[in-house]
Formats: sequence, C-alpha cells, structure tokens
Amino acid sequence: MSFLRVSRLVTIERHIAEEQGFHPSATGEYSGLLRDLTLALRIIARDVRRAGLNDVLGITDSINVHGETVKKLDEFANEVIFRAMDHGGHLCVMASEESKGIIKIPDEYAKGKYVLLFDPLDGSSNIDVNTTIGTIFSIYRRLDPQSTEDGDERDVLQPGYKQVAAGYACYGSATTLVYTSGHGVDVFTYDQTIGDFLLTHEKVRMPKQGKIYSVNEGNYTLWSDGMKRYVDHLKKQEHGKPYSLRYIGTAVADIHRTLHYGGIFMYPSDSRYPNGKLRLLYELNPLAMIIEQAGGRATDGMNRILDIIPTEIHQCAQAFMGSELDVLEAELFVNGHHS
Ligand code: AHG
Ligand code: MN
Ligand code: MN
Repeated sequence: MSFLRVSRLVTIERHIAEEQGFHPSATGEYSGLLRDLTLALRIIARDVRRAGLNDVLGITDSINVHGETVKKLDEFANEVIFRAMDHGGHLCVMASEESKGIIKIPDEYAKGKYVLLFDPLDGSSNIDVNTTIGTIFSIYRRLDPQSTEDGDERDVLQPGYKQVAAGYACYGSATTLVYTSGHGVDVFTYDQTIGDFLLTHEKVRMPKQGKIYSVNEGNYTLWSDGMKRYVDHLKKQEHGKPYSLRYIGTAVADIHRTLHYGGIFMYPSDSRYPNGKLRLLYELNPLAMIIEQAGGRATDGMNRILDIIPTEIHQCAQAFMGSELDVLEAELFVNGHHS
C-alpha cells in the first residue's frame, strides 16, 4: 500500500522541466528562476524549524554569536529571497510585503524577463507560538519581453490573470509547496533527508461545497449587515448541521485547509479596513490563482480577484475564496440578494 497520492516519484525540479517540455519556446530561464526560489524556501523552512531553538542557543536577543544583529524571521525571509533571486539573471524587478517600493535588481547583475512578487513570511503573529506560517509568491512576465533593462512599477502592477505561476510554501507539521503554472495545482512535500520537494498530490481538485468557514469572527460587530447575515446563516441547521469554524490567522494555512477540505475563507471589509486587510499583489492574487486552478472561486464579493487592475503595490482587497458554491452563496448575502 502506498501513502503517496501519485504513481511516480517526481521532484519539483523534474516537474518544472517536464512542464517546460510542453512549451517549445521555453528557454530554461524559468526553471532557473524556480530552482533559485525553491532554494530560498528550503533555507526559510530550515530557519522556521530552528525558530524555537534560537532562543535556547541565545542568538535571538538582537546579537548573535558572530556579533551580528539577528533579524526578525520575516525580515530574514525577505533577505533570503532577495539574495537568492537578485543575481540569477531571471528577474527584472521584485516587490515584497516587507519593502515599501519596488525592489531593483542590483546594477551589476543581468536583468531577465520575469517579475517576482512575494510575502516572505505570512502569518508572522504565529511565529512565536509554533503555529503554521508560510511564504507566498507570484510570477509575471515583464511587459516588454525584449528589454534587458531594469523593470519598473508597471511590471509589478499587473492584474492577477496575467500570472505565469503562483504558489506558497506552508511551514506546518510538514513543509509543503503548492504550485501552479496554470495547468492545475500540484502539491510537493519537503523531504529533509534528501533536501528536496517531492510531488505528493497531483492536480488537486477542491470540493464544490464544504462544511467549514474561516474568518476572524471577532470582527463581527464591524461587518456589514450582509456579512453578518451570511455567517449567521452558516450557523443554522439548514445544511444538515452548522458549518464548523476554523481560523488560524495565517492566510496560507487557512487557504491550504480550504484547498483540501473545501469551504470558504474570508477577509471582508469592516469599519476599520474598508478594503479588507489582505494585500492584492502578493497575498490574494497568488492564492486566488491556486484556488481557481483547483476548481474553486475567488472574488472580492463582486469581482474576480484575478481581474482587479492594481494601482498600488500594497493595496488591499476583500477576499472570499474557496469552494465554488460556498463563495457564490457568500456573494448573494454580502450583496444583499439573500436574507
Ligand atoms: P502577514 O503575517 O504577512 O502580515 O499576514 C497576516 C495576514 C494573513 O496571513 C492572515 O490571514 C491575516 O493577516 C490575519 O489577520 P487578523 O489577525 O486580522 O485575523
Ligand atoms: Mn501575509
Ligand atoms: Mn508577511
């Protein structure tokens, strides 16, 4: 009996090479990009696993054994991704949750045809309590494919439907890498002993409807009436039994569960956050692409998230993501068409 849900043993690198085989025009630049990125994810995974130990080893209280200042894990992750990605010649510009403006590729390195957006550490409030955290990434082609110059803000502000690929690493009881390049969603699990991500779930499809809702319900009194009515509705017996509530407070982890078990994940607007709290470019777009590629639905309550035209790097949007029927029902309530 096999516990793997795949028949072949495939590493992430092999998988990307196979996918490139479908695209005769591919130059190999893209697989180089992914190789560098998964190196960064492996380094972050290692340090996430050591986060508790660092205290024991006495190297988190600002100065480490080398006399260097120790950075918070999210700043560290930001730097690891930058340093893994700046010199490969694959990228023309980057943007990150942890950096105010665009991130330039240093002058001394070649500029490539791709753009990388990332949330280096998602769920940072969970770091200190040994709860699942993640890294989210989103990849685009640069607007001018012939250019060998620096990319600029226009390359970063592209709508989500133009993503070439997207994914996240989820540092939980295991480290998993969930990835799509628009041909379905594949899940890889990190095997520490061989230092590689192995394909463990191929072409994941999410349930049409689930039994779980995921939202910060502490904000209930700040929500719109439609939003309140939707969550009240989920608690009634009408579905056979009430929906279960699960909320980790790490979008990656809440989406990861929603991807496998179905249901709905939400961060609606409230009286403090008129556009919700989650960031469009490096949180919602990549997560929305994953959800859609697995057969789910991802909207801001009205419009498809992937169709929103961004105007600012750090802009927020409302999020209703998950099983198609659950998200459609939520939309009816928040738009006042259901009571
Ligand atoms: P980050 O740690 O990258 O700032 O993201 C935290 C986000 C997201 O992961 C999560 O869904 C949300 O914040 C939780 O917000 P609340 O604490 O308001 O529920
Ligand atoms: Mn985040
Ligand atoms: Mn973050």
